[in-house]
Amino acid sequence: MDIDAVAPPLFHFQSYTVVIVLGLFLVSVLLLLQHHHHRHSHQAKANSATCSCNPILGNLVAFLRNGHRFLDWTTDLLTAAPASTMEVHGPLGGLGYRGIATANPDVVDHILRSNFPNYVKGARIRAAYADLLGDGLFLANGRLWTLQRKLASYSFSSRLLRRFSGRVLRDHIHRRLMPFLSAAADSSEAVDLQDVLRRFTFDNICSVAFGVDDEGSSALLDDHRHGPFFSAFDHAVDVSFGRILRPTLLWRAMKLLNVGSERSLRRAIAVVDDYVAAILELKQRRRGSRGKNIEEDPDLLSRFTSAMEEEEASELGAVFVSPEAKRRFLRDTVVTFVLAGKDTTSSALTWFFWFLAANPRCERPVYEEVHHLLDRDACDPDVDGENDQVYEKLKGMHYLHAAITETMRLYPPVPIASRVAADDDVLPDGTVVRAGSFADYSAYAMGRSSRLWGDDCRAFRPERWLDGHGRFVATEAARYPVFHAGPRACLGKEMSYLQMKVVAAAVVRNFTVEVLPAASMDTPPEHEMAVTLKMKDGLRVRLKSRACAA
Ligand code: HEM
Repeated sequence: MDIDAVAPPLFHFQSYTVVIVLGLFLVSVLLLLQHHHHRHSHQAKANSATCSCNPILGNLVAFLRNGHRFLDWTTDLLTAAPASTMEVHGPLGGLGYRGIATANPDVVDHILRSNFPNYVKGARIRAAYADLLGDGLFLANGRLWTLQRKLASYSFSSRLLRRFSGRVLRDHIHRRLMPFLSAAADSSEAVDLQDVLRRFTFDNICSVAFGVDDEGSSALLDDHRHGPFFSAFDHAVDVSFGRILRPTLLWRAMKLLNVGSERSLRRAIAVVDDYVAAILELKQRRRGSRGKNIEEDPDLLSRFTSAMEEEEASELGAVFVSPEAKRRFLRDTVVTFVLAGKDTTSSALTWFFWFLAANPRCERPVYEEVHHLLDRDACDPDVDGENDQVYEKLKGMHYLHAAITETMRLYPPVPIASRVAADDDVLPDGTVVRAGSFADYSAYAMGRSSRLWGDDCRAFRPERWLDGHGRFVATEAARYPVFHAGPRACLGKEMSYLQMKVVAAAVVRNFTVEVLPAASMDTPPEHEMAVTLKMKDGLRVRLKSRACAA
């Protein structure tokens, strides 16, 4: 199916009806946009210098002036707040929307770990993503989340899956990424590296999640394979995120009328559903014909299916009783993992290559480390999940690890995360949080905080992560919540680092990457305001092959 036909750009409304509805809702759209977006309208006293709050409009004017630089604006406000936490009241005295935003590690630790049960996924976010993610891990709360998390951690941390994902990664690098980049280098044509990386990581997570791959295909940008699924998924994520920015009433009305972006969302989700249903059916047939040999089917979907069968007599089995409910749960779980792995690592890698280009003094040690640790006669890092030596080599790449970690400090793939308080609470700094209020933290603001990282917090300096012997030293998760923290911390952290290091090593080892126009720390690229931190206009680069044994 041609997804372009069903996927108009976000916020682009072709329907005349929708234009009228939008007109009627104009005022509330403006008010509620700022409800959601800005986090400071009536904030801590010390911030009042930067916030001109109006009792009716809140800080709508400030938002309209700063909305295009939302992350940097909220970073400025959190930096100015004495304890890096601010109270937020929407217009009309906070009617319907109020909460706190923080860049304070103690508060982050409190919300994500010490008072974890009190901070749940809010109804607004859950409603926005429900059509795409259903009852999946991302949206679940309470007992349902606990049961799923247990199952997912068990399935996800298995050695079998680790080996399999290592094999898939190696195969995709050798067969798809490297040939594509070599051809680009040979032709001297500029390519959008962000787009290449997004397609690569999507392909990769789909193969790991579903265990289906077109063995014969070597085309990285092959639109006939995962192409329609890729576009549909992308579109469904964009529209679901767009729902958060709109009045709930508006998108619900559009959904009911099946118009505009809601219509295209429905069609995009149908593409996702059809794709997953076909794979589930295929897997079921395969299992039927050759039994439950998980060694032959080590992908995520098969791991979850087996774990579900083992759990049959357990609580989770009791929640999803019918075969249809089980199928739906498996679909939601795997789609959630695809979402989690889709743009996060590609976002980090894109910014990583930009930083190396803007900081040539850091590119040299990365290249030397990779060159030194990988086999001298091999152009590609021979990563194989079955070969523990490769893990040891990757572990030994301390500078590369530090450079990737430093990249995500300044450009965290998930810049802001949001929770809602179930009950009244008092934060460690004394701020009162009322039941039903949101509690957000900005990993983006934390990475740019001089209180946390010193006066050179805006500089790209991988060395800050290394000890005197050049070994990587991690910090507390609450100070660097890029992968979240506490019981709900990211399950894919280890897999992500493996993927990012292998891809980075393969590219740096084989090519020099020239960013167009030349990268400079004084003029960083703009980013999109989306679920993940993408570069707004992509990353145009020209590649030059290095001599292999140089
Ligand atoms: C650089 C890469 C990544 C970053 C920075 C990252 C970051 C995060 C963050 C911040 C959260 C918390 C979101 C929230 O609850 O509001 C999260 C959750 C999660 N991540 Fe990742 N992630 C990355 C890659 C991955 C990958 C590759 C996977 C798996 C394929 C994955 C699986 C998950 C899952 C399953 C959760 C939900 C955990 C739960 O709610 O219990 N992540 N991640």
